[in-house]
Amino acid sequence: MDRSALYKQLLKQAAALVEDEPDFLASAANLCALLHEGLGNWWTGFYFVKDNQLVLGPFQGPVACTRIAKGKGVCGQAWEKAQTLVVEDVHSFPGHIACSPASNSEIVVPFSLNGQVFGVLDLDSTDFRYYSAMDAKYLPRFLELLAPKWKQVP
Ligand code: SME
Repeated sequence: MDRSALYKQLLKQAAALVEDEPDFLASAANLCALLHEGLGNWWTGFYFVKDNQLVLGPFQGPVACTRIAKGKGVCGQAWEKAQTLVVEDVHSFPGHIACSPASNSEIVVPFSLNGQVFGVLDLDSTDFRYYSAMDAKYLPRFLELLAPKWKQVP
């Protein structure tokens, strides 16, 4: 299956998983598992904006850094710029935060409500150049399923 067909299939599964579930955290946790397994990522997870920092949310994969300051690493920059960042080789990204030495490429997608970024979705791979414009196109659609359920996570 090509990646576009895979994304279409995963989007259908994602909609079915979360459409009748009002709880934001439960929905985020399941989307994380779906994307992790479905895309074969090394690490898949959410960070949420709290007290002007990114704080770790539901994730799949090895343990990760708990807090990330605005502008730091790929996640902090995606948040600051409110822009998806595709990093083909994390070792050449200035300020990259190496939570796991096995990670070689990454995509970070910020998500917003009413113009305000309230979190990011971070996908990491052990392969170089694992993510592309294709991922940047489809991943926000998973976040659109989640955004209406957003409530500040305790
Ligand atoms: N590499 C990320 C940090 C988060 S972890 O990879 C899970 C970054 O540079 O923002």
